This record gives sequence, structure tokens and C-alpha cells, in this order.
Amino acid sequence: MKITICGCGYVGLVTGALFADRGNKVICVDNNPKIVNALNSGKIHIFEPGLGKLVQESVKRGNLSFIDKVEEAVQNSDVIFLAVGTPSNGDGSFNLSYIKEAAKDIGRALRNSLGFKVVVVKSTVPQGSYKILSGIINQELGDGSLVEWAYVSNPETLAEGTAVKDFQSPDRIIIGTDSDKAFLIMKELYYPFIIKRDRIMRGSPADAELAKLFSNTALATRVAMINEMARVADITPGADMDVVRRMVCEDSRIGYKFMFPSPGYGGSCFPKDIQGLVAQAKIYGYNPKLLSVIHESNEVHKNYMGERVAGLINCQNTTTVAVWGVTFKPQTDDMRDAASIPIITRLINEGINVNVYDPQDNKARGIFGNKVTFFNDQYEAVKNADALILLTEWRQFDSPDFSRLKTQMKGRQLFDLRNRWLPEAANRNGFDYFGVGRNYLLHEKI
Ligand SMILES: NC(=O)c1ccc[n+]([C@@H]2O[C@H](COP(=O)([O-])OP(=O)(O)OC[C@H]3O[C@@H](n4cnc5c(N)ncnc54)[C@H](O)[C@@H]3O)[C@@H](O)[C@H]2O)c1
Repeated sequence: MKITICGCGYVGLVTGALFADRGNKVICVDNNPKIVNALNSGKIHIFEPGLGKLVQESVKRGNLSFIDKVEEAVQNSDVIFLAVGTPSNGDGSFNLSYIKEAAKDIGRALRNSLGFKVVVVKSTVPQGSYKILSGIINQELGDGSLVEWAYVSNPETLAEGTAVKDFQSPDRIIIGTDSDKAFLIMKELYYPFIIKRDRIMRGSPADAELAKLFSNTALATRVAMINEMARVADITPGADMDVVRRMVCEDSRIGYKFMFPSPGYGGSCFPKDIQGLVAQAKIYGYNPKLLSVIHESNEVHKNYMGERVAGLINCQNTTTVAVWGVTFKPQTDDMRDAASIPIITRLINEGINVNVYDPQDNKARGIFGNKVTFFNDQYEAVKNADALILLTEWRQFDSPDFSRLKTQMKGRQLFDLRNRWLPEAANRNGFDYFGVGRNYLLHEKI
């Protein structure tokens, strides 16, 4: 099939590369010429495991190309995906300006097209957006056009860091469309990925939009809930949130997924999607009480983490703190809404020198600039540090060399904000251990 993907970010590039990998002819369009130039010179501007090789191979085979103008690509495609950003406005509502602009471009390009085209919205949009977006396309198309087209909402469910794997073996593919013809085309397109088991779930465009937002809201709620419980554990003498978590999550009705204490969720999806869902519900006349406080709870938690670390390290006597991991999760370079930002900013504001090591620090360097010092080695970063904070759980941090830390660090405080380390091991090596909802001083559990 011939496909256009509009937007070459974490979603668009993965989608384009994987459809191309299965033999489709894919043109990826991005209106940022820098991105297109980079991709055309073989450079991938994002870090996503496995993506580089896929892109390289498909380009070589002639199945994948990159351009910055949508017109020609659309006219030569059967299916056109929209995978542009839908960030948050300051008030929590979705900023639809990019996707509206892209919908206009597509509508204009369709004017001079022939045959049947499927326009697929992969971007996450507020519930009800299908009306606005299909309206824009129809308006641009005007009367008298020879093209026939259908709208599909196909929200993306991949997760950064495992995006290639997620796309290749999806747990579900959500297709929202009123057109049987478009549905069959979508089924054909995704068929290589569902050969073993049919993962396609069909509903209306409104169903699909709402399902995507509900999914992210459900996951974010679990994270916010366990983090609130961790704050309760912090002030409950003798409680260890990790022990409590296991006792609770073993209940199969509750389960372990997304029930792990952390410095708070981040990334480009949970924070904006949950706020956007609530904002849109309010526009439609309903204020969802529980959902309205999830984002606030997460923000409180991120600030609490910064306050807690700053309080425990005794800022007046601390000159240097080392941080391992700053991206919003491991296996990505994405820093959007990362919990590391408010926590590190809190320390910088105290006049503390922050040494950072992250295996994928290119975007972090753009954010923190020279306000922190970046290192290329995790143990170099801890030299003379008063404390070490684990902020993102890259695998290479799982089993630290405590005796090396002891030799190289000045202080004896470890802040494990991902609860990855065994507190007793930290204590045995002469460190005080502070986790999320679990704190072990050298000779007592607090
Ligand atoms: N990142 C994720 O893990 C993830 C997962 C599921 C869904 N989503 C959703 O998918 C969408 C895309 O997310 P992303 O993380 O890939 O975003 P991104 O910011 O990484 O990429 C978006 C790209 O679209 C380009 N763009 C903007 N306007 C354009 C236009 N008019 N024409 C062509 N290109 C244009 C930008 O230059 C950018 O490269 C968002 O709605 C997001 O919520 C993201």
C-alpha cells in the first residue's frame, strides 16, 4: 500500500518505519526541514531502540523516504496518517493548532486527488475532535472534487522505549470509523501485525478517541495512587512501601502493572492527556471530580520529591549532588515533563552543583544547559558528591558498585527515587538509603 505519515516524531517515524518494513511504500512528511534533512542524511533525531536499523534498511530498499511538503505525498497515497504533536495549552486543554494545520494541508492536497483515500488520525486528540478535523478537511476540499475519502481514528498505544516491539506485537489496534471500506483497508494494512491473533477493535471515531484518553487516564491514576500511598508510608513509622506494594499487588484484582512508586509520571502523554480529557469534559458540561485531581496529585508528588531530597540532604552543608538518569523513563531521550526537571531545578535553586549522567542526555543538555554538569560516565559523575540520586531506572544503574561509590563520594546518602536498590545492601556499604516510601538509615528503619 502507499502511505503518507504526517509528522516524523516518536509515533510517526516508528509507524512509517514499520509499515515500510513490511513492504509498503511510505513517505514521511515533517514540516520541520531540519528533521527532514537529518533523516535524509541518515541521522535519526530521536532515540528509540531498534528504530535506526529499521529506518536505514527501509530507506535502502526504497520503501521509505522523507519530505517536508505534504501535497505530492498525499496525492500518491492510499492512506494518510496524521501523527503530529498535540501538546497541552497552559490551561490543560489540548493545543490542536498543529493537527488543524496538518488537516488543512491534507484537505488541500486531496482537492487534486483521485480515487478513495483514508485519512487516519493517530495523534491523541480530545474526545469529539473527529468532527472538527473531518470538518476542516471537507472545508478545504470544497465542492466538485473527484476524490472520495473516509475518516479513521486510530489512536496509538505504543510506549516510548519499547515502541518498535509494541508496534510489531500490539495488544490491541483501535480503529474508529463509520466507513466499512476504510475499515477493511486498515485491517489489510495491519494484517501482518495481527496474523497470530486478531487484535483489532472497531468502534466509532468517538469511541476510539475516548478509549485512548481513558487508557492513559487509568494508567496515570494507578501511578498517582501508589505515589500518594508512598507519601503516606513516608510518615508512617516502620512502613516500607515496597513491602506494602507487594502485599497489595499480589491480589489479582489489583495486580502489579503501573503500581510502582516513582518520582511521578512524566512524558508527552499522561500529563497532557488526562488534563485534556478533563478540560474537554468540562466544555461538554461535566466536571469529572476524581479525574480532575490526578494531574494535581502527580504535580504535588514531583514537588514533594524535590522538597524531600532538599530537606534530607541539608542544603547548607551540601555542595555537590550526583544524579543518575534524567529522561522521563529509560530507553528514551525524551525529556517532556520529566520528573527530573523540577527536582533538579529545586537543587539548583539551593545553589547546589548538580552532576548528571544519563546514557541519552542530548535533549537534557538542551534543557539544563550549563546549569548542571554533564558526565559521560556514571562513576565520574559521583566524584566528591555529597549524595547520589537515582532518577531514571536505566538498567546499568540496577546493581551499583557500592564500594566504588563509597571511595568516590564524599557523602553517604543515596536517594533511590525508583526503589531499585536493596536498602540493606546500601546500609551494609555504609550508606543511608532513602527510597519512595521506604527509608533506611544506617542502623534503623525510619
Ligand atoms: N510519544 C508517545 O509515546 C505517544 C504515544 C501515543 C500517542 N502519542 C500521540 O501521538 C502524537 C505525536 O506524538 P509524538 O511524541 O510523536 O510527537 P513529536 O513531537 O515527537 O512529533 C511530532 C512531529 O510532527 C511534526 N509536525 C508538526 N506539525 C506538522 C505539520 N503540519 N505537518 C507535518 N509535520 C508536522 C513536528 O515537527 C514533529 O516532528 C501526539 O498526539 C501524542 O500525544 C504519542
